[in-house]
Amino acid sequence: MVQRPIGIFDSGIGGLTVLKEAMRLLPEERFVYLGDTARVPYGTKSPATVIGYAEQAAGFLVSRGVKLLVVACNTASAVALPHLAACFQLPVVGVIEPGARQAVKASSRGRIGVVGTEGTVRSMAYNKAILRANPLARVVSAACPLFVPLAEEGWAGHRVARITAEEYLEPLCREGIDTLVLGCTHYPLLKPVLSELLGTETVLVDSAAATAVAVRDLLRERNLSCRSGRGGVHFHVTDLPDRFCRVGSAFLGAELTGVEQVELGG
Ligand code: SIN
Repeated sequence: MVQRPIGIFDSGIGGLTVLKEAMRLLPEERFVYLGDTARVPYGTKSPATVIGYAEQAAGFLVSRGVKLLVVACNTASAVALPHLAACFQLPVVGVIEPGARQAVKASSRGRIGVVGTEGTVRSMAYNKAILRANPLARVVSAACPLFVPLAEEGWAGHRVARITAEEYLEPLCREGIDTLVLGCTHYPLLKPVLSELLGTETVLVDSAAATAVAVRDLLRERNLSCRSGRGGVHFHVTDLPDRFCRVGSAFLGAELTGVEQVELGG
């Protein structure tokens, strides 16, 4: 069992930021990554649609024999996690709880902003998770749908990204936030623009590193850690791999090779 890979899925390339952290923290583990590139973005879809997509993606990874499932997509974590945990007999880790806990830890005054897709913000999943960890926190959130295409286009550092971020963050700045949760897998790419805008006093929290720690802890707790493996990753996508390879290397910080196109059932 311990030799089995860890399954990670995302709506597309953004989850590679989570994979990168998990590979760094768990170099002996093998990973199977699925990017549902044919159906990205999830963030603009209804909860019922996202739950259906997430079930198919998880089913694919389970059929590949994974020992633990990581839902790297914030939107899917926000709306589909209980459904996946009920459907599949394996441990499931999402990105919301780890990110929320990290934000509470990082926040000096409990004034926490959350940015994410429309679906994630509408679900209030981060707000609820933050308030569970600190009932006295004040949470304000904003949907930033244009951040995903900007990151996908490689425009994360472009002046258009700066202008867009100014518009989106203005209401959060007015609330005097001291911490901002980057509640979408694509947003870590916009970190330079966001920190320039918010200044060094505002802490940017990216769920990727916290999720990797949650995965490590859960593996240990369930005696599922692989201690003697050579690591490695196998990539799957649901659309042609070219764009995933080209744009995804910025997310992973490494070349993407051997990417296989697959069809999800249903
Ligand atoms: C999306 O599919 O809309 C972005 C991924 C995410 O929600 O993290």
